Formats: sequence, C-alpha cells, structure tokens
Amino acid sequence: MQKLPAVLGGSPAFNSLVPMVRPVLPQFDEMEAGIRQILSTGMVTKGPFLREFEEAVADHLGVKHAVAVSSCTSGLMLVYKCLGLSGDVIVPSFTFMATVSALVWNGLRPVFVDVDPQTATLDPQAVEAAVTPQTTAIVAVHNYGNPADIDGLQAVADKYKLKLIFDAAHGFGARYQGVPVGRQGDAQVFSLSPTKLLISGEGGIIATNHDDLAAAVRMGREYGNDGSYDSAFAGLNARMPELSALLGLKSLNNLEHAAESRNETAALFQEAMGCVPGIGFQQVRPGDRHSYREFTITIDAGRFGLSRDELALALAAENIDTRKYYDPPVHRQTAYRQYDTGQPLTNTEWLSANCLSFPMWTDMEPDVAMRICEAVQVIHEHSQPVHEKLASK
Ligand SMILES: Cc1ncc(COP(=O)(O)O)c(C=O)c1O
Repeated sequence: MQKLPAVLGGSPAFNSLVPMVRPVLPQFDEMEAGIRQILSTGMVTKGPFLREFEEAVADHLGVKHAVAVSSCTSGLMLVYKCLGLSGDVIVPSFTFMATVSALVWNGLRPVFVDVDPQTATLDPQAVEAAVTPQTTAIVAVHNYGNPADIDGLQAVADKYKLKLIFDAAHGFGARYQGVPVGRQGDAQVFSLSPTKLLISGEGGIIATNHDDLAAAVRMGREYGNDGSYDSAFAGLNARMPELSALLGLKSLNNLEHAAESRNETAALFQEAMGCVPGIGFQQVRPGDRHSYREFTITIDAGRFGLSRDELALALAAENIDTRKYYDPPVHRQTAYRQYDTGQPLTNTEWLSANCLSFPMWTDMEPDVAMRICEAVQVIHEHSQPVHEKLASK
C-alpha cells in the first residue's frame, strides 16, 4: 500500500520528534579525574586545563596560537577589536547574526556581499567588486561547515591590503585542501557550543599565526588588563572556565570520528534525496571536507511541487524538526536593516527563501536518515494534495 504523508492523515514517519541535534559528549568516567582535580584544587578558571586545551587545539589545527574564549561571538568581538579595524568590513548577509553583531559592537560598518549559490560561501568576485577605500577587512564564513574559497578571498585581501578573518563557528571537522580550516587568513574564530562537533558547553577558539594578535586577544579576554590594572584598551571578560576547557579537551578525542560520521550521514542523505526532483545540495569544492555541522538542502518549488515552507510544515507533521537557516538574512533583520544599501543580494535572497536544514548529529542511525529521506520522497509524491491541504488550513 502506498504511504500517505502525515499531513494527509497517514501515520507520522516518527512517533516522537527527531531533533535537529543530539550533542555527543564524553563519558563521565573520562571526565571524572579532571572534575575531581578542578574541585579539589579550587582552580575553576585560568588553570591547567585551559592551557592543555589550547595547546591541543593549536596542535590539531596546525596553527601557532589557539586562544580559548567564552564564545565565538566574544572571540569575533575581540579579533575585530584587536586587529584595529575601522570603517567598512565586507561580510556575507547569509550567515548567523553574530558574524555581524560583533562588527557593529566595534563601531564598524558591515557591507553585505553576496554568496556563491552552489557553496553558500562568500563569492570572491563579489567581494572584489565591493572594495572601496573605506574597506579594511573581509569576514568570510565556512557556512554550515563548508570551507570558504580561502585562496580566492586571500588573493583579494592581498591585492587591496585588507585583513581576512573567518567566522569558523561551524569549522571544527572541516578541511580546506586536506588541512583543517583554522590556520589560514589573519584569524579564524570557532564556536564550541552544544550544536557543534567539538563541544565545551559554551566557548570559542581564536586561531591565529600572528603573535601580536594572539597576545592582544589574550589581554582582551581579561578586560584589556595586562595585570598592571592600567587598561590598554576596552576589553571583555571572555574567559573560558576550567570545566569547559576539560569538556573541550575530552571532546577533541572524538572530533575526527564526528566529522567522518557526519560525512557518511550526509552521503546517505544525498544518495537517497538526490533522485527527488527539485532538491539541491551544497557543493563542496574538490579537495575540501565539509564538517556537516548542518545538513542543508535547497528546494526548487516548481520542480519539487511544494515551497520550502510547505515542506517544513509537512515534515513537522512527520515529527521531523527542520530550521530555515538563514531566514531572514542579516541585512533584513531589524537591528541591521540600516546597513542595507539596496545593493542586490540575489543569491542570498534565493537561498534564504529556499534552504532547509535537517536533523544531523554524530552517529545518526542510518535507519533514521533513511526514514527522513523517505518522508521527503512521500511528501513530494503527494505534493499537489499536500499543497491543497496546507492552503486550506
Ligand atoms: C556562523 C556563526 N557565527 C557565530 C556564531 C556564534 O557562536 P557562539 O554561540 O559560540 O557565540 C554562530 C552560532 O552558532 C554561528 O552559527
């Protein structure tokens, strides 16, 4: 008997909600000795686990300095500040709000530039076209975990003597031309929040090969105080506590497995959804590895038979959670609309209206992935009655 989508009265694909993420954390016995040490010594911040974690991350990334901070957002705020940026900074609008909020906190003007529609990462040609004498930096994002066109962006940065910073919030597990993202550009800033492959609870890592920048952000995470209590500049409290550093350190042991597992799940999704008309996937450049922090598809409504929003509603009825990252894009958000110059961001607008992110976690059971794909297929096969049903609600 042919399956019926839940929205048309069929039984849902899942009995309970399939969440977007399931953080994979170290076992308690891996953490136990460290927790005891932290509690018994009273070193709850600025202790040995912070140093060990920073060294292990620098080693993993192949970068000179890894500075642990309280979040990716505070890390971006410190990097923008300590690089001494001024004026205009080129940034995608197709990103999470924090890429841009950290610029605005530093009194910088975001200049929104379009992304490449296939990779959903910043388009170097569009960047070059947007450079003016006021431009001081380019900020690119490894969007959803897909490495940006680092060489293309570096060429533009070199040509116009601009700083190049990467928001690498989704970057742990991603590889650019065979090496981890993190060592390229002037600095890269990672997130360690629970939706990521490497988790410290909350936290971030600033990765850089510049000694001066590393020293400055270390001071910046301590209020801008070098210990003399004569602030060199207005800093933050952006320290990472020891328990978070310990969690990050243990989580690092699982990072390679996490990236491999997610790439396997993504391959399954692509194989099973690839034959459904109107569904597209984010392209990964040859030689790169996606982290699949997020697995996101595009929906061409004309070919699929339903819009992205209709598909999301039909999937919700199947108990499958989804997210519309990033809708609205940053240049249309209330706080950032004032920076919208009216310059067309055609690909950003299209992706924003047509992207849908699916549940993805490390060690997702293949059966769960296959049932999600089957639900998409069944919804597509019934697109006309599903459309009519949703329209009547
Ligand atoms: C692209 C991007 N930048 C920055 C952030 C902010 O990270 P955090 O929550 O660690 O501040 C996020 C959060 O997921 C993100 O997706």
